[in-house]
Amino acid sequence: MYVATTDRSPAGAAAKGPSALIDRFGRRVTYLRISVTDRCDFRCVYCMEPDQRFAPREEVLTLDEIEAVAAAFVALGARKIRLTGGEPLVRPGVVGLMARIAALPGLDELVITTNGSQLTALAQDIRAAGVRRINISLDSLDPGRFRQITRKGDLAKVLAGIDAAIAAGFERIKLNAVILRGRNHLEVPDLVGFAVDKGINISFIEEMPLGSIGDHDRAEAFYSSDQIRQDLAAHFTLVPTTETTGGPARYYRIPDSETRVGFISPHSHNFCADCNRVRVTAEGRLLLCLGQEHSLDLRAILRGHPGDRERLDQGIREAMQIKPEGHEFDLRAQPVIFRHMNLTGG
Ligand code: GTP
Ligand code: 5AD
Ligand code: SF4
Repeated sequence: MYVATTDRSPAGAAAKGPSALIDRFGRRVTYLRISVTDRCDFRCVYCMEPDQRFAPREEVLTLDEIEAVAAAFVALGARKIRLTGGEPLVRPGVVGLMARIAALPGLDELVITTNGSQLTALAQDIRAAGVRRINISLDSLDPGRFRQITRKGDLAKVLAGIDAAIAAGFERIKLNAVILRGRNHLEVPDLVGFAVDKGINISFIEEMPLGSIGDHDRAEAFYSSDQIRQDLAAHFTLVPTTETTGGPARYYRIPDSETRVGFISPHSHNFCADCNRVRVTAEGRLLLCLGQEHSLDLRAILRGHPGDRERLDQGIREAMQIKPEGHEFDLRAQPVIFRHMNLTGG
């Protein structure tokens, strides 16, 4: 759902309706991102190490625990939930979980972010479960380069998955591309051309320094959103819009096409002042900011006090008081956040 708004203030960025979740800076938390698993069938070079270790199963929230967390957040005022990972679709039972979360009274939309590898089999069921929008990662249209970046991925499968998502009738499909200098930066115009041909959206993301990845130097690979926009200017007209999905992207339209091009620019255009979201990691840690360690152990509450909804609600409400003002990402320094993106929830 796109909401046209000219107001980028904290209150304007938040969704409508009352919320019990307001932080010390007056920001309303209306958007919850849940990593349903840290596992993934890919090992993207900006996300994981080649031999990434995954959390033991007993440390990962059960599907019932995830549902309980989602229900508590919606009752407290969350209006949008995104399931991510890792790769959410590799978790057995995830489609049933989607149906249960989508049915929570008060939730405006359930959305997911996926690498697309399982969509040929699952797209129809996910749509039927009530997922309205879907974001699919796609960093390259060249099979060899796609394999290099994802270390394991098969481009043909993901492209078929994108077509399956289009056929399944999602209200909106967005591609996500993390652009790395010297890897895929020359593909930016082709990626936009692909999105235009398919009639879907695309966002370009600046890489964030989460966890060590044993691959490239993140400062050397930095490729800014401004640079990407310059590169695109030779091929497309980009008209700025004030549309927002309640996410961090700034959008541009391409005239005479369905496509919006978004830029998620944590380094070059910090969006923390508008932040309306918190995350729950696969292990049940409520993270108040992607780029900081302030957190609350929801798993300890869920397992220490089973069924005690009041306690869970109170923990979540109080945690808003420790939401930090913003991230302090520094690509030139050693990563200070050791948690990888797959655990964190994209
Ligand atoms: P919609 O706008 O709802 O379509 O989604 P989105 O762009 O918020 O979600 P998506 O899962 O597609 O995320 C795209 C990228 O934005 C990922 O790399 C996220 O980690 C990044 N991102 C999302 N929220 C934040 C945030 O609060 N801070 C930072 N630094 N990055 C974020
Ligand atoms: N920096 C920026 N984006 C990342 N993603 C994964 N790791 C990183 C990172 N270090 C992106 C994926 C996916 C989304 C969930 O997060 O490409 O689109
Ligand atoms: Fe898997 Fe997504 Fe991380 Fe790639 S970015 S390894 S697809 S979780």
